[in-house]
Amino acid sequence: MTKILVTGGKGQLGQSFQSITSQYENIEAIFTDVEELDICNIENITEYLTNTDIKYIINCAAYTAVDKAETDQTASTRLNATAVKNIGKAAKEHGIKVIHISTDYVFDGNSHKPYNESDYAVPASFYGQTKLLGEKYLMEEQPDSIIIRTAWLYSEFGNNFVKTMIKLGNERDELRVVADQIGSPTYAVDLAESILDIISKIENNSVKFVAGIYHYSNEGVCSWYDFTINIHQMMGIECRVMPIESKEYPTAAPRPYYSVLNKTKIKTTYKLNVPYWRISLENCLRKLAVKN
Ligand SMILES: NC(=O)c1ccc[n+]([C@@H]2O[C@H](COP(=O)([O-])OP(=O)(O)OC[C@H]3O[C@@H](n4cnc5c(N)ncnc54)[C@H](OP(=O)(O)O)[C@@H]3O)[C@@H](O)[C@H]2O)c1
Repeated sequence: MTKILVTGGKGQLGQSFQSITSQYENIEAIFTDVEELDICNIENITEYLTNTDIKYIINCAAYTAVDKAETDQTASTRLNATAVKNIGKAAKEHGIKVIHISTDYVFDGNSHKPYNESDYAVPASFYGQTKLLGEKYLMEEQPDSIIIRTAWLYSEFGNNFVKTMIKLGNERDELRVVADQIGSPTYAVDLAESILDIISKIENNSVKFVAGIYHYSNEGVCSWYDFTINIHQMMGIECRVMPIESKEYPTAAPRPYYSVLNKTKIKTTYKLNVPYWRISLENCLRKLAVKN
């Protein structure tokens, strides 16, 4: 049995893990959130890890309020950078490998081709800066780490774009949605499943643990506008969706225009099949329909 610790267990990705871990007979997962384990507190982490046989920490805890981070710089840096350093340090001391989640926002989004892991990262937002610093700190403290940058996360859990568009689509006759930002939606349950598959494969020796940075999203690309049209069509929501430019929807933190991630490295290293985004969206909407 391989024991894993999932921090930020009550967040969107954490809950996605919770929904599927029982399918993995050889993995025993412990879930913590800030009440049980505050990752900003190094003593707390070290104490928690003492006398446990945890083999992997999956860090899903983060400061994810992208616009608020522009002004709440101390708190966002503490959670996205310093706390990740804490995890790395404590994990190294206890011989634990770390799988940490990062973001497409480490890139400025000015590219026209999918970003590779080795591409120079220049974040346009403060949130992106904190996440990039977290990546650096983690690799310095615990080189036996896997960092997975993902993008446009949604699921049946927590607050996310899909749930917001369903709500607004049901409430309004017309919606204006940004059409000049291109990316790849990522169903958080697919990401959780891929990470658990990676751990299972490492543990049964069918692949090797290869530390480093990886990119993961669902296959295919779309704009937020296309994404909304698909959500509404699949849900049978009748709402006029109007495409707008980013400048018509100003936000405190700039958003990348193009944040498509190249996934070749994670797919080949860990022998993963990644679903197309529309198929995963259908899966999520089916679960949401059952839930409501
Ligand atoms: N959401 C996206 O679209 C997106 C896109 C790309 C990458 N990512 C990355 O994916 C990861 C997961 O995102 P998510 O959407 O699941 O985030 P989330 O829903 O905001 O979850 C983060 C969790 O961390 C918890 N947390 C806050 N402070 C903590 C502390 N000091 N110690 C322990 N836990 C703490 C939060 O609790 P509270 O709610 O009580 O604060 C929350 O439950 C993050 O690393 C994020 O940067 C997300």
